[in-house]
Amino acid sequence: MVDTAQAVATYTITAEFEGDRHSFSCRADQTVLNAAEAAGLALPSSCCSGVCTTCAAMITEGSVEQPDAMGVKSDLQEQGYALLCVAFPRADLTLKACQEDALYEAQFGQYQK
Ligand code: FES
Repeated sequence: MVDTAQAVATYTITAEFEGDRHSFSCRADQTVLNAAEAAGLALPSSCCSGVCTTCAAMITEGSVEQPDAMGVKSDLQEQGYALLCVAFPRADLTLKACQEDALYEAQFGQYQK
């Protein structure tokens, strides 16, 4: 019998949020937002489907897969922006939460000058 709980990789997430660092584990098949909630860390979120950018974060170490992150342009994803509600870890991660304003500025700031 295959033990599926053993088969899925688990990563350690270190998140900076409101001036504190929080660590929690996240399975490869679990969104980072979901894992944070399961660990009792209430990160900002709203639509939970990759559109509104409320959950935006900057990944400073590690990488995520986020095929449903419609709210972030691909070049900004490459810079490290991630939507945690649709981001699955592919390595241990270090991230800064609460990057909605920074992401907005990066995506749309040029149109407002
Ligand atoms: S909560 Fe809306 S994009 Fe993540």
